[in-house]
Amino acid sequence: MIDRDHKMLIQYVNEMHSAMMAGKGKQVVGAILGKLVAYTHDHFGREEIFWKANGLVELEAHKKRHVDLLATADKLKADFDKGSGGLSVDVMNFLRDWLNNHIMKSDQEAFKSVSAAKAARRPAQAAPAAMR
Ligand SMILES: [Fe+2]
Ligand SMILES: [Fe+2]
Repeated sequence: MIDRDHKMLIQYVNEMHSAMMAGKGKQVVGAILGKLVAYTHDHFGREEIFWKANGLVELEAHKKRHVDLLATADKLKADFDKGSGGLSVDVMNFLRDWLNNHIMKSDQEAFKSVSAAKAARRPAQAAPAAMR
């Protein structure tokens, strides 16, 4: 579920990048940006339920990163909607790098933390035969 969401997010980012590079108008770029921001909200919601269900120890810190990212994404979207120009390459790259970074770093760390905690809960099964 999480991997599928991440693929979708990356697809939207790529779509936005291509639309900008192809010089598409504000409406087209704005529609993709809108989808990306809305999907980011949905994804973070689903992910937080998943981390909580799996007992992520660093849940609050992870949630805080989501809140910060969403606040910035919402602000970018609002500025874009208000302005007369398109999305700048800097803003696009910033959003892309931040999302990629979160997926590659924070989410991967959370996966590791959750599986390490799971492994620690069943030491008997994990012990090699020679140690029994
Ligand atoms: Fe994620
Ligand atoms: Fe996350």
